[in-house]
Amino acid sequence: MARQRVLTGITTTGTPHLGNYVGAIRPAIEASHSDSVDSFLFLADYHALIKSQDPARVRQSSKEIAATWLALGLDPDETVFYRQSDIPEIPELTWVLCCNAAKGLMNRAHAYKAAVQDNVDAGNDPDLAVTMGLFSYPVLMAADILMFNATKIPVGKDQIQHVEMARDIAQRFNHNFADVFTLPEAVVGDDAAVLLGLDGRKMSKSYNNTIPLFDTEKKLRKAINKINTNLLEPGQPKDPDDSTVFQLWSAFASPAETQRMRADFINGIAWGEAKKQLFELIDSELADARLRYTQLMDDPGYIESVLKKGAQRARQHSEPLMKKVRDAIGIGPIL
Ligand code: TRP
Repeated sequence: MARQRVLTGITTTGTPHLGNYVGAIRPAIEASHSDSVDSFLFLADYHALIKSQDPARVRQSSKEIAATWLALGLDPDETVFYRQSDIPEIPELTWVLCCNAAKGLMNRAHAYKAAVQDNVDAGNDPDLAVTMGLFSYPVLMAADILMFNATKIPVGKDQIQHVEMARDIAQRFNHNFADVFTLPEAVVGDDAAVLLGLDGRKMSKSYNNTIPLFDTEKKLRKAINKINTNLLEPGQPKDPDDSTVFQLWSAFASPAETQRMRADFINGIAWGEAKKQLFELIDSELADARLRYTQLMDDPGYIESVLKKGAQRARQHSEPLMKKVRDAIGIGPIL
């Protein structure tokens, strides 16, 4: 079988939290060590502009996301790790793909449709605050993916549609011009990897229910103490399958330790005690990485040098690919 090429991007608007770690970062770093895949990972900073007009936030988030992945063991010799905006071929390809993407297809994109629906519901002009960036977002994402002939795209459920659109655009281009692009496929993590937040809903920045990944030990303990529980007293049996504390526990514990905690729940462990053990478990997995994270955040020059090297490696792919595209569409020197 041909070697798989796995590629994913992270929009640089937020600070990574525990849900990102369990759902995306930890599995991606594990997978990146496999000999049978080539992995590409990038900071999607042009995507950040779709959501944020706050330059300080975008800059800080890029730094935090890069430091997080490096602190958690992403090996930049194994993975091509770069910043989208360091690859000038990406916006260039975006335009070419725009000319191959049906507007009708973009009209159906969830993120755009949701923005329009919110406007309609509020009695506003449907286009209020809808930018061309939001509307064309799937095309930029298609350029990210198709540029590197990626085959597998690990994403959350909300992004499956975008990967399918990339596939569609690639097919249309290949049909109109030449067989330039590889068709990508979305890979969605299992639901067990979706961590619950403080209020029991999916952990997400938009719900404001996250637990920090690399804040101080004290803040981690405080956040864990804030997880919603019921009013059952110590000694009263508790349902592990209806508990965010237990769900978090199983995301970090070994199978044997998960079994043990399940029994403790049924035997009526006190919420305070369960949370104390949960803090210790999570902290033991993250403490070393937290220290590395702090050191990296104090050494932006190092982070920058890693990203620049990654961009050099990425451009060894993007430059020849873009040349193929230009040749195929008739852009270039007069012959
Ligand atoms: N849009 C993705 C998100 O918000 C991030 C992203 C940008 C991405 N380009 C990508 C993911 C390419 C996978 C492949 O999560």
